[in-house]
Amino acid sequence: MAHKIAFSFSDGKTLFCSTNGNESVLDAALRNGIKIPLDCREGVCGTCQGRCDSGVYTQDYVDEDTLSEADLAERKVLTCQTRIQSDAAFSFNFDSTLCSAAGTKLVQGNVCKIEKISAGTAILHIDASSAGLDLDYLPGQYARIHVPGTDDWRSYSFASASGSNVLQFLVRLLPDGVMSNYLRDRCTVGDQIEFEAPLGTFYLRQIDRPLIMIAGGTGLSAFLGMLDSIAAKRAETPPIELFYGVRHAADICEVERLESFAASIPGFSFQVIVSDPEPTWTGKIGYISGHLDTNKVRDYAHDIYICGPPPMVESIKAWQVEHDLNTSSLYLEKFTESNT
Ligand code: FES
Repeated sequence: MAHKIAFSFSDGKTLFCSTNGNESVLDAALRNGIKIPLDCREGVCGTCQGRCDSGVYTQDYVDEDTLSEADLAERKVLTCQTRIQSDAAFSFNFDSTLCSAAGTKLVQGNVCKIEKISAGTAILHIDASSAGLDLDYLPGQYARIHVPGTDDWRSYSFASASGSNVLQFLVRLLPDGVMSNYLRDRCTVGDQIEFEAPLGTFYLRQIDRPLIMIAGGTGLSAFLGMLDSIAAKRAETPPIELFYGVRHAADICEVERLESFAASIPGFSFQVIVSDPEPTWTGKIGYISGHLDTNKVRDYAHDIYICGPPPMVESIKAWQVEHDLNTSSLYLEKFTESNT
């Protein structure tokens, strides 16, 4: 059975291919023009080394001087010796340019829907089916979208799981922003729109332990994509908690969708926290770091994913250091919200 492989590189590019029979990950890559550096092809030199971020795999032979027990426990692999038994994602600490393969694609799509979902947020739906290709990306990655009629590009995380060429992006509507003005004033269904994808090293890894997702504002987009993909797999997962922080209650969006994830993903829960609430707000108030359960994170190491503006990301990092929670891993997407 063919399985899909994602290869992520340190320059933020991701390349995809599929296996043929029981071939090694390295052979699948080479057959698809992804020239992962190699030397011995016998599990000794370590040149083809990477890490399996998600998926089920086995390794034929690994020299003990090349990867230690600790390396193996961290899911480090020699791709020439690795075979996969499910779809899988691998990461490498070198640039994709070393593999002399084209990575990110420039794709033409069409706007198929614009949905205003809160006072300051919209979902832009793009249908990329006419491009005649399967657009692959990992849940959590983003696209750079060309704003029609301008020379400007803006970056948005995919808010839906890969597997369909109808894509969603959460967009913050600014009073005078390039994309915001386009969506408000000129955009009509059917407009041609060009984007570059997939981009970014912020993506969902193998879920082996409890997960904390921390979203600031439209940083929620990346988590909607991740949760869509988790829900689609219908597999048992460790507990997943999402903390969704916004400035004003009017900024809250996609709560019904989060509620549907809570109904369909066992162990998933979420809370919404408002930092600067109106007097009528009766929910949680403050910054996310004030609502995290330090004892729980200390007792059970977690994987913590954060996507939001820099001050929020920095406050969570400071919280982790202050409480000495270094057994939990942090994955970050810090986005500077454009004011235009
Ligand atoms: S190429 Fe030498 S270990 Fe894979």
